[in-house]
Amino acid sequence: MQTKIAVRGGNPLLGNVRISGAKNAAACILPATILAAGKCTIENVPAISDVTYTLRILESLGAKVRLLDKNTLEIDTAPLHGHTVTHDLTRHMRASYYFLGALLGRFGQARVAMPGGCNLGVRPIDLHEKAFAMLGATVDTEENAIISCSAEKLVGTQIYFDVVSVGATANAMLAAVRADGRTQIENAAKEPHIVDLANFLNAMGANIRGAGTDTIRVDGVPQLHGCTWSVVPDQIEAGTYMVAAAATGGNVLVENVTPKHLESISAKLRESGALVEEYDDAVRVIGHSRPHKCSVKTMPHPGFPTDMQPQMAVLLSVATGTSYITESIFDNRFRWVDQLARMGAVVKVDGKMAVVEGVESLMGAPVQADDLRAGAAMLIAGLMALGQTEIEHIEYIERGYENVVEKFKALGADIFYLQDADEDAVLLAG
Ligand code: EPZ
Repeated sequence: MQTKIAVRGGNPLLGNVRISGAKNAAACILPATILAAGKCTIENVPAISDVTYTLRILESLGAKVRLLDKNTLEIDTAPLHGHTVTHDLTRHMRASYYFLGALLGRFGQARVAMPGGCNLGVRPIDLHEKAFAMLGATVDTEENAIISCSAEKLVGTQIYFDVVSVGATANAMLAAVRADGRTQIENAAKEPHIVDLANFLNAMGANIRGAGTDTIRVDGVPQLHGCTWSVVPDQIEAGTYMVAAAATGGNVLVENVTPKHLESISAKLRESGALVEEYDDAVRVIGHSRPHKCSVKTMPHPGFPTDMQPQMAVLLSVATGTSYITESIFDNRFRWVDQLARMGAVVKVDGKMAVVEGVESLMGAPVQADDLRAGAAMLIAGLMALGQTEIEHIEYIERGYENVVEKFKALGADIFYLQDADEDAVLLAG
């Protein structure tokens, strides 16, 4: 049996939705608790499978994890004894690479198998390894794709990233917080979760300045202590519901957000004809007529986020006119195109650009989630389409969206889980 998500399209989304803590902030903050060698209480943690995988790795290293409620964790890393994370634990997600920086920063050694995660093309971690080496670590690749890092002592230095990398920026901070002296990270990523990580580390006693700009200064400290922290709201989850509201001609108040983090998404939605009103910790999105065509180019924050590219493309697939979407971060993030074509979309991919010719409407069809955000995009397509859409491989979606069916249902969507006999299994059973 496999579980799918089924959506019957045509209902405008109406009402309020509360955004959860950011997946990509929790992804680096939870491993960062290793640096505290004490107890941390982390609030507003999204209940998603990437968090489950991360906690499994922490426990495998000897940390004590207590669930105080669905979204609040107490993590005690004082009893931590291991510094090896094997493939069976790292294969589920890309963010397992943060255990390299955290273990190296705490113990001066780390052995972590290459990460898994969404297939968005080649996703090397050479910039992470470069940062560790520049801080004085010896970095090797052992058998079973284990990356090993070891350092007698980590010494602050100047690190310049040729490519803006969220993961490498965060990992460099994790390894540098207890190094001797100052580390200056140049051409750093500025995503909200980079700022959230820096603020969390400072709450643990680190000395980090400049997060959110392209130069981050880390002055090493000898010891870090536990603290209590609340994870920043997820700007990509928020953007997904904003686009869904516009795409269904709805009227939705998206709550528990930081509007500043959503500026590029709000701007593109306004350009496509939606109304976006900003409040202190909420935005309202009102979609009315058919969206207007517009061009999108994904860029590092504060540019338009690559993690919103598939969702925006689905909105524009029914726009008046032709839209041009340029993916400048990853080299294969158009895997949603084939699935959307099954619903009647007309999209041509030419290298880093997808040319989206607006059609009148989409039609429901059986589709699959090829990665986390492509899966979210298929959900939005189903909400817009005439008829029923059934989405397979929903485990991708559940990696990054807490209570996604319940949240959409509360907004009036006709959406439900579908238990489906696995046809192949039935055939094989004869
Ligand atoms: C993080 O991935 C996010 N994942 C991704 O979110 C997000 O799409 C991406 O940042 C960009 O914002 C997590 O935070 C767990 P990068 P990451 O390093 O760190 C190249 C989602 O949907 N690069 O910023 O892997 C890389 O190939 C996921 O939530 C190197 O060349 O992204 C890419 O082209 C998907 N060498 C570019 O840099 C390296 O060592 C940006 O990647 C590292 C990256």
